Amino acid sequence: MSLTLNRDRMISEIEALASISEAEPPVVTRIVFTASDLKARAWMKARCKKAGLTVREDAVGNTFARWNGSDPSAAVVGTGSHIDAIPNAGKYDGVVGVLGGLEAIRALQQSGFRPRRSIELLTFTSEEPTRFGIGCLGSRLLSGTLSPDAARKLKDNDGATLDEVRRGAGFPGELEEVKLPIGYFHAFVELHIEQGPLLEQQQIPLGIVTKIAAPASLRILIEGSGGHAGAVLMLDRRDALCAAAEMILAIENAARTSGAMDTVATVGICDVFPGAVNSIPSRVRLSVDIRDTDVRRRDQVMRAIETACHSISNGRHLTTSFELLNADAPADSAPIIIEALSQSCLKHESKFMTMVSRAYHDSLFVARIAPVAMLFIPCREGYSHRPDEYASPEDIARGTLVLAETLAALSE
Ligand code: GLV
Ligand code: MN
Ligand code: MN
Repeated sequence: MSLTLNRDRMISEIEALASISEAEPPVVTRIVFTASDLKARAWMKARCKKAGLTVREDAVGNTFARWNGSDPSAAVVGTGSHIDAIPNAGKYDGVVGVLGGLEAIRALQQSGFRPRRSIELLTFTSEEPTRFGIGCLGSRLLSGTLSPDAARKLKDNDGATLDEVRRGAGFPGELEEVKLPIGYFHAFVELHIEQGPLLEQQQIPLGIVTKIAAPASLRILIEGSGGHAGAVLMLDRRDALCAAAEMILAIENAARTSGAMDTVATVGICDVFPGAVNSIPSRVRLSVDIRDTDVRRRDQVMRAIETACHSISNGRHLTTSFELLNADAPADSAPIIIEALSQSCLKHESKFMTMVSRAYHDSLFVARIAPVAMLFIPCREGYSHRPDEYASPEDIARGTLVLAETLAALSE
C-alpha cells in the first residue's frame, strides 16, 4: 500500500474551517450550538459526504462519518476529535484530528486499500467546556460517563438547558440513545496537537500518548454584602471579590506545593456581581480547573483548596459554597494501539517518543468503552488555547500519514 496525502487540500481545509468563527481572524471562537458551530458542522458533513462517507448524528450532535468495511458486522475502528473552539482560540486544537482523520481516510481510499472493519470519523460535540461548564460532553454521553439525567440538568450561562439548546440546533432525539455499547469500537485513535512544548524542545516529530491526566473542575460561589463604594467604610465591608482574590492565590499555592510538578490549577473565570465600579462586589463565582497525572494527589489538592477557601471565607464573615462539575479518573492507552502507532512510525521512518497528555481529550472518555491511544504532533512553543497556536504543514502531514497507516493496520 502506498499512501499519498493531499497536503495542500488539508491545509486549505484547516484555513477554511478557521474562517468559520465568531471572532475576527486569526482568532477562532466556535462555541457549541452557536451559528458558527452549526455552520462548521454543515461544512464538515459536506466534506465527509464528498469523500463518500455515510454520515449520521446522534441526539447530542456527535457526528459519525463511516467508510464501510467489507465486514459490516465487525467492531469499528474510530478516529476523530472536535471542532468547537474556546473563546480566543487558534486553528488547530481538535481540528487537526478531524481533518487529519478525513485526509487519512481519503488517502487510504485512493491507495486502493479496502478495510475489513468499517472506519468511522467522529466529530464530538462540545469537547470544550465553554457553554455548559463541562468538557467532552459528547464523548461523556457516548461512553456512558455522563448519564442522560445529569446531562439534562446542564444549563448554559443564559439559563437555557442542554435539551432546549440541542433541540433548537436540530438534534431532537433522545439522549438515552447516545451511549454506544462496549465493543462498538475495536479501537479508537485520536490525532491532536501536543498543546505543550516537549516535542518541539526535543525535536521529535511525533508523540504517542500512553496516559491522559485526570481533570476536575469546580465552581466556588462567594456571597458577601454589597453597597455603596463611597459610603461603606472599610471596616464594615464584606467584599466577595477581596475574598476571591485571596482564594485565587490559595488555589495557586495548593497546586504549587502539592509536591509534584504534575499538579496544575487555574482559575479561568471570575464572575463579579453586580459588576459596577462604584458598587462593592456582593457575589463572586470562580471557575476552577485542577489536573494531575495522579488522581489521589489531585483529590488531596482539591480538599486543600476547599479548606483554604472556607478559612478565608470565615475570616471575612462570608458564605462560600462549592459546586463540583467533574472529577474524572485518568486513562491509560491500550498497548495494542500504542504498538500499532509505533509500527506505523517505524514504517514511515519517523522518530517518536511516548508521553503523557496533560490536556484532556475525547479519548479520555472513549477509553471507558474501547481501547484508545493518541498521536501528538508538535505545536509552536507549545502554544494552544490562544490565537497564535500553530502546527506546521509538514508536522500535520506526518501525523496524518502515521494515522492513516495505523487505521489501515487496525481495520484489517
Ligand atoms: C481541552 O481543551 C483541555 O482543556 O484540556
Ligand atoms: Mn481545547
Ligand atoms: Mn482539543
